[in-house]
Amino acid sequence: MRENTIYNILHSDHETVSGLFQRMEAAEGAATRERLLGLLKEELMAHSQAEDAVFYRPLKESEATRHLILEAQEEHRVVTRVLGELERLSPENERWPARLAVLKELVEHHVKEEEGEIFKTARSLFDRAQERELGTAFLQQKKLVLAELRGSEAASAASASPAQTRASARP
Ligand SMILES: [Fe+2]
Ligand SMILES: [Fe+2]
Repeated sequence: MRENTIYNILHSDHETVSGLFQRMEAAEGAATRERLLGLLKEELMAHSQAEDAVFYRPLKESEATRHLILEAQEEHRVVTRVLGELERLSPENERWPARLAVLKELVEHHVKEEEGEIFKTARSLFDRAQERELGTAFLQQKKLVLAELRGSEAASAASASPAQTRASARP
């Protein structure tokens, strides 16, 4: 079994995302596209937020990696924006696959730089013990973010109906 270093864990998440993109490209029905987009959003958001808090934070403090991390954070921001734009587009719209393709290219470019230059420089900064500690901390943080994301989605779904009730109760 591969060691639970931060690199192996992040890489395996990247593979999960790439698998989701493949399934989304093959999906034709609106319901399937929506369901897969929900899974992709959850995975991308939890991954990037935990990655930022656990892996990017110490790297941002180092002169050797600061510029790479600043660029990676900008890429996270753009990915989040395009993801939101894809969510707002009807899965039946003919532009949906095109927007998905752009999102996939953004993510692939980001992952390539992350697993390339960023991992390479990080390996010269962290020792083996730190690489495993970061891996554990990442998994814990990702779990927290996932719980938060699921909680806030449930809360916004629940708040939609009382608001409607209040509006309709007005004289
Ligand atoms: Fe990543
Ligand atoms: Fe990233």
